[in-house]
Amino acid sequence: MRFILGVVVGLLLVAAAGAFMVYGGHVAVAATTPPGMLDKLAPIALDHAIAHQAPTMTIATDAAAVRRGMEHYDENCLPCHGAPGVKPMEFAQGMNPAAPALDGDTQGFSDGQLFWVVKNGIRASAMPAFGANHRDPEIQDIVAFVRHLPKLTDEERKDLAAALPHEHHHEEGGTTGEAAHEEGHHHEGGAVGAASPEPHHH
Ligand code: HEC
Repeated sequence: MRFILGVVVGLLLVAAAGAFMVYGGHVAVAATTPPGMLDKLAPIALDHAIAHQAPTMTIATDAAAVRRGMEHYDENCLPCHGAPGVKPMEFAQGMNPAAPALDGDTQGFSDGQLFWVVKNGIRASAMPAFGANHRDPEIQDIVAFVRHLPKLTDEERKDLAAALPHEHHHEEGGTTGEAAHEEGHHHEGGAVGAASPEPHHH
């Protein structure tokens, strides 16, 4: 009886602490939050979940598939993940978790795991589920291009670099095209966050 009472009281205390955190507004939700326990545990859970849930499949990486995949990559992946020799767009620096470069460790994923991640996305991160608007064969083409990333030709690098609207994003009314490539629209010091009480006016 004493034991059961102890367990009940213990559970109530845990619940109270949880309620204090959640309803008291104490959970750290800012993207600028320094890494904590959750940031250590979540990637482990993620790796195991992907390994467990991904299908077993082999994806063809012929030149045609790679080329089709690159068109999707330009629009849908490059802004966040960049590519070898091509920096992601400015906003990608503020993401937590960050979008990793896909030519590194990610190449250790099996074809099925890459397919699964691209199709289903990663919850509560910036990684979208492309299954929402892409058919399976298109996702396979995207994976073919991800596999090709470590072997990009110079030509492909140039095409990728040209696909991003770099450096002219602060102009209202958008000068399109090449003219806007001069530098000088950057906020130096790049402090993400640094919560200022007033909205910025540019
Ligand atoms: C809006 C930003 C964004 C876009 C667009 C995006 N991703 Fe991601 N992606 C992320 C983030 C952030 C992560 C890391 C998530 C995490 O670790 O929890 C990620 C993770 C991944 C991973 C897992 C990498 C690893 O090593 O764990 C793969 C593979 C991936 N993305 C591929 C793609 C592909 C292919 C596309 C385009 C079809 C794409 N992503 C588009 C933000 C993005």
